[in-house]
Amino acid sequence: MSFPARRLRRLRRTPAMRRLVAETRLSVDDLVAPLFVRQGIAEPVPIASMPGVVQHTRESLRKEVRALADLGVPGVILFGVPDPATKDDEGSQAWAADGIAQVALRDVRDEVGDQMVVMADLCLDEYTAHGHCGLLTPAGEVDNDATLDRYARVAVAQAQAGADVVAPSGMMDGQVAAIRRALDGAGHHPTAILAYAAKYASAYYGPFRDAVDVRIAGGGDRAAYQQDFRNAREALAEVALDVDEGADMVMVKPAVAYLDVIAAVRARFDVPVAAYHVSGEYSMIKAAAERGWVDATAVAIEQLTAVKRAGADLILTYFASELAHAL
Ligand code: PBG
Repeated sequence: MSFPARRLRRLRRTPAMRRLVAETRLSVDDLVAPLFVRQGIAEPVPIASMPGVVQHTRESLRKEVRALADLGVPGVILFGVPDPATKDDEGSQAWAADGIAQVALRDVRDEVGDQMVVMADLCLDEYTAHGHCGLLTPAGEVDNDATLDRYARVAVAQAQAGADVVAPSGMMDGQVAAIRRALDGAGHHPTAILAYAAKYASAYYGPFRDAVDVRIAGGGDRAAYQQDFRNAREALAEVALDVDEGADMVMVKPAVAYLDVIAAVRARFDVPVAAYHVSGEYSMIKAAAERGWVDATAVAIEQLTAVKRAGADLILTYFASELAHAL
């Protein structure tokens, strides 16, 4: 036999050959580790629905970030978990100079300097008593425009505390423009914006709500501001708006169920595209592995390679540390 199939098989014969001709290479350089830091705890608190992930103390956060830097992971994204007693209707701890995220950003910046890109998730839901990503109208709906001014304050507070990148995740219209204007107005021209541009209202965020202790009041959801998972063209419209408003990078979230969206965004736009492999994607792999049904690391590498193959330039993943060891 000497037809094209032979050629394909020849290129698969040994591990070295497969390595040489691989079209997609997942590397530690692609990874951003999401980390949770909780106010007022003495020891790290394991998150039951995310095996291997914890709510950090300030001290354990420093150690974890140091370890990630030493492994060569280029980025982290911080989520603050405030003392529940400090939550209010506006989420004012989100922009307080001594709010947990700002305090932790200073710690991390002090620990790693410019060795890592330090990102801050920018939202209000961890800080509001009602658990929504924005302020509410008297009727209980999210008030898009009133929320923008609060996001602007959070962005400036995070930049002041040392964030290289702020990452608005609330899906308010006009958030990127409002944040860019506020950052520039306060002299933070170098601070970049990673917009959660195509963020779907997703059932895959379940374990994250445990990680940040967020319950939406009255059993509500975010379907009125996050995207509908039936829509892909709409994602391109969302990304176009954010790029126009000044987003330096854009994100698609979740990742594996939205590979088509990642590919479409990659094809249409020239800014770096991030994908967020979210809590539910992580926990499903971990849960199956605990039952001995799959090899967690192998599945993680296969999924994240698919995310990269679809076109993502950077991947936010709770597997960052594990994969930095494995790769
Ligand atoms: C909102 C936010 C969420 C996630 C990141 N930022 C949750 C939500 O929109 O309800 C989810 C991350 C994950 O599931 O890993 N601040």
